[in-house]
Amino acid sequence: MKKYKKFILITALTVFIILLFFALYAPLVEKTYSFGKGNIKVALITDYHSATLYYESLVNKLINNTPDIILLGGDIIDDEEDVYGAELLLKTLSESPFSNIPKFYVTGNHEFWSNRVVEFKDLVKKYNIVVLDNLSPSFLINIKDENILISGICDPYVIKYDNLGRFIKKDYEENWQDKWVKDYLYNNFLTYDNILKKINNINGYENILWLKNIIVENADIKKIENSHKVLLTHRPEFVESYSKLPYEYILSGHTHGGQVNIPFILNGLYAPNQGLFPKYAGGLYNIDNGKNLIVSRGLSFNPIMPRIFNKAELVWVYF
Ligand SMILES: [Fe+2]
Repeated sequence: MKKYKKFILITALTVFIILLFFALYAPLVEKTYSFGKGNIKVALITDYHSATLYYESLVNKLINNTPDIILLGGDIIDDEEDVYGAELLLKTLSESPFSNIPKFYVTGNHEFWSNRVVEFKDLVKKYNIVVLDNLSPSFLINIKDENILISGICDPYVIKYDNLGRFIKKDYEENWQDKWVKDYLYNNFLTYDNILKKINNINGYENILWLKNIIVENADIKKIENSHKVLLTHRPEFVESYSKLPYEYILSGHTHGGQVNIPFILNGLYAPNQGLFPKYAGGLYNIDNGKNLIVSRGLSFNPIMPRIFNKAELVWVYF
């Protein structure tokens, strides 16, 4: 009997250790979403958090499957980590073989929380990456004979920080996120007229060669209407507002895949701003007729909050 008990105990322990290994095993994987002709290849990188753990793996994957466009979807630079990890990635993306690939970036909440968002945006620009924000929210570009509208919005925390990137200490009005939706999201992207008002503003980007080569001259409503329309935003949770916009692809991150997954049972335990059992933790969501929200699980790695059955993700979008 004693022998039998010992056998059970050892078996249970072995199973537990194997399960634990698989639960914590979080290498960088690639997730692909394909639409239409699939001629244009977009690489979406989010929530890098100034880490270096996935650097080599990420760069190798980008070399093996050269993207037409690289999008950096916020929280690339962390507020508590050394900026070195993020700068290494930005620098690499500015060099061969990536130097001529169009690259766009939006801020996430962590860039704002650093109180250094202005400095960080300048760092991104230094490496010839376009920061999509309120000044230059949209570019109509031509790649492989196809017109693509690339728009992007800064994180909602823009409302709580001043022009120098410092936290506004006074209690801001309660509905600050509604203010972001109205003043930033709708004002820049609700209609084609809104989009046209600030399209192709290359102020500050005059020296970026790849941008000059692909910008569509004389952008008008018809050209926008007939283009592939992509909106880059850090936050997935503003689904209702996004569904009102004329974009086919809304690319986001922020959730870290809901941190804990249970295969076939649970797609995310918790995500910031969505709470427990988040609906938009990671994956593809059809939010309205022909409007696709893609949520990347991101590339974050935090040993204190490990990813459980939740691998880090480089997302590819083909359209
Ligand atoms: Fe975030």
